[in-house]
Amino acid sequence: MNTTLRNAHALGVELVRLLAKADLIRANAFMQHGDTSCLVHCIAVAYVSMKLLEFLHLRYDRKSLLRGALLHDFFLYDWHTHRRAEGERMHAFSHPTHAWRNARARVKLNAREEDIILRHMFPVTLTPPKYRESVAVCIADKLCALHETLHPSCYAELKRIYAPAFKRAMHSDSSGGQNHEA
Ligand SMILES: [Fe+2]
Ligand SMILES: [Fe+2]
Repeated sequence: MNTTLRNAHALGVELVRLLAKADLIRANAFMQHGDTSCLVHCIAVAYVSMKLLEFLHLRYDRKSLLRGALLHDFFLYDWHTHRRAEGERMHAFSHPTHAWRNARARVKLNAREEDIILRHMFPVTLTPPKYRESVAVCIADKLCALHETLHPSCYAELKRIYAPAFKRAMHSDSSGGQNHEA
């Protein structure tokens, strides 16, 4: 299996696991940039992070990278209306903590996964990422955000590929995903 196929397969496996165990499909209900949902954005960030580390020939913990990246924006609200609705003005600073709380309520996170989620907004948030996986997600997040903003329909193919998995997750009998081990 070549690297691209291996990466796509690994991403698909972790995505399906988190759809089942963390109720990750909920992130598809909220738009991130343009017409890209938080979930689709996280999938793109996960893939670009892997490509980045492999381009640099760096060893990394692929499972932790994928899980952290897939959960990095699991804050579960519409940030476009959140400020008006909740009076919270600091989405850019606070959403990593919201995502981390939502993720750890559903799955067990290791140190790398926590760092990926909590530090992905550096340098907006002051504490820098600690692991190479977190640095990769931090960089990939900015690249994907820019791409999504400039090209609103950029992930049409990606959405088509994952549509069946999203549909299954929407219709599965979810318990709300509380306190699952992953
Ligand atoms: Fe974010
Ligand atoms: Fe993000």
